[in-house]
Amino acid sequence: MPRNAATRHQRADGRRREIFQQQTGSPPLASATRYPSLARGYAIPGVAILPLRLFLGLTFVYAGIQKLTDSGFFRAGSPTYIGAQLLAFSRGSPIAFLLDQMMGQAVAIGALTILTEVAIGLLVLLGLLTRPAVLIGLILNLMFFLSASWHTYPYFFGSDIVFVMCWLTLALTGPGPFALDALAQVPIRQGLRRRLGRARADAIASFITGPLGSPTTVREEPGQEGIDPALSDRRRLNRAEALLGVIAAVVFVVLGLPRKGGATPAGKTIAATTPKSAGGTGGASGSTGGGSQSGIPAGFKKIGNITQLPANTGGTVSDPKTGDPAIIVHTSGSNYFAYDAVCTHAGCTVEYDPQSKMIVCPCHGGEFDPAHGAQVVAGPPPSPLTAIEMKIDSQGNIYIV
Ligand code: FES
Repeated sequence: MPRNAATRHQRADGRRREIFQQQTGSPPLASATRYPSLARGYAIPGVAILPLRLFLGLTFVYAGIQKLTDSGFFRAGSPTYIGAQLLAFSRGSPIAFLLDQMMGQAVAIGALTILTEVAIGLLVLLGLLTRPAVLIGLILNLMFFLSASWHTYPYFFGSDIVFVMCWLTLALTGPGPFALDALAQVPIRQGLRRRLGRARADAIASFITGPLGSPTTVREEPGQEGIDPALSDRRRLNRAEALLGVIAAVVFVVLGLPRKGGATPAGKTIAATTPKSAGGTGGASGSTGGGSQSGIPAGFKKIGNITQLPANTGGTVSDPKTGDPAIIVHTSGSNYFAYDAVCTHAGCTVEYDPQSKMIVCPCHGGEFDPAHGAQVVAGPPPSPLTAIEMKIDSQGNIYIV
């Protein structure tokens, strides 16, 4: 290239680098100067990951402390007892075999969970040993996804799968700036090299504290493109990790899809209609809890007939007053119960489980006893389900207000 043309090219190249750095806050990779608009999406400033790191760290510390300060967490018989939660989580879970084993050591598992959550949260906040902490957090949330959130449909209503993807993102990007890993990586690498030899030590150290130099902070000076083997190793690693991340995301979505219908409420859906003779022409009725005979006052809506609800089944209907889903449970004999079907914990729709004879919440294993005012018998819901007034006439028609 003639000298003048080379100088012009260098100037233009330098200008493109300057613009790219102004736009992204990051020094450009070699390809970034040639394709700045494409590369802008690739070179994400490390600071962008800080909100996610902060959120995950604080949430895990809070989750551990919340369990620690829950007086029922280690007390058998309490709705929030860890053993009761494990029992509820194991129902229909693909890892039920594992949870069943854990139930024998419920208190130890509970203590370990608290310790792990607090440790993960603190390490992530400090950015120290971030990758091992992130990996353990990912495994923990994966287990919650396969148990506590397994029956949540659609899958994206459950929070655990979102946490799994957040951990995955943090594993791919590393902790970003303000992380103690940046200080720890050289001593850890040197310590491991003395014991394990260079190649194995470098591989383990790269996993623990990330590759030497953060992907978002290493600078590539003009004229050095393509000659730093550490940089090209890191790029290769990042691409392999990103590919793994994409595969994992697809697998989780596919994993969530087949459960369509698995989490729909057990029992029947009963259609609501307005009774022609509300006000009660000689009709017999059962109030919530079943039994008493009286006319059907105005304002009640017919939602079905008792023939649709054999003993030990539940059915759902839309509550005419609130529009919420309501659940009607026939436990036995003439005992019918009606409750608002919105879980008092986080608003998932509950369902009746004929096996346990309980109203259960598919999201976090909450259980309510339909025969005793929907009192909480397991899981995190803070209060019983709201009772709905119900009447049954002499023809067995069910009305709720
Ligand atoms: Fe959490 Fe029901 S929403 S137990």
